[in-house]
Amino acid sequence: MKKTINTFLNKKGKEKICMLTAYDYSMAKLIDKSDIDGILVGDSLGMVCLGYENTLSVTVEDMIHHGSAVVRGAKDAMVIIDMPFMSYEISVEKALVNAGRIIKETGATALKLEGGLEIIPQVEALVKAKIPVMGHLGLTPQSINMFGGFKVQGKDAQSAESILESALALEKAGAFALVLECIPAKLAELITSKLSIPTIGIGAGKECDGQILVWQDLVNLFNDFTPKFVKNYANVSDIMTRAFETYIKEVREGVFPEVKHTFSIKDELLEKLY
Ligand code: KIV
Repeated sequence: MKKTINTFLNKKGKEKICMLTAYDYSMAKLIDKSDIDGILVGDSLGMVCLGYENTLSVTVEDMIHHGSAVVRGAKDAMVIIDMPFMSYEISVEKALVNAGRIIKETGATALKLEGGLEIIPQVEALVKAKIPVMGHLGLTPQSINMFGGFKVQGKDAQSAESILESALALEKAGAFALVLECIPAKLAELITSKLSIPTIGIGAGKECDGQILVWQDLVNLFNDFTPKFVKNYANVSDIMTRAFETYIKEVREGVFPEVKHTFSIKDELLEKLY
């Protein structure tokens, strides 16, 4: 059954919400088969798919290209797409234009925006335009140059207070859910208890209403670096490396392709070619 923002809202306090990222059709289809609630087309695609050092170079076009592929693969999961860096900060009008493009050209259900008080006008405008918004607070990767790197947020009183204040403001502005990334577990628990919308944690402890991971992290396919909050559930990169090595060996030894992998032609037809 198709999951919607109501699925998310109704699960708060009752059942954990499960999310994974995806960036293409095949993975979206595979993940969708697993009864996942939501698939995020994260701008993390800049790092795990495009090989950038961070998410700052990702464009609206990148998000539309990958987002529409994911929507084609996800029948039941709700698809949420990240608005990339500088596609919503400049003005409410620019945010609306870019958000409208992403929703219209991909068919996704909702968008995710990083930031707190400073983006409340944009969140209000998107919700008013009937675009569901997921907030994102804590270690928001689009702000790494302000944070001085990928650093845990909310560890001092001022930063914790500002995250809580932003969470309450995002709820008031109409966000239907909130990602909390890399903040102390007790702070995430407090925020979760103060909100009527669900929190989705990543490095924010188990008291959040749900969890999200980047799928490549979950199966150890992206190992340029592994954040503390990642758990490997499988070692797909070993399995794939063995498969690639076996393929190369079989091609070199003439073992692959076998007759069953080839196509035939009638001998008399072939003879005419000689
Ligand atoms: O870009 C992304 O994948 C994200 C999640 C890790 C929350 O924002």
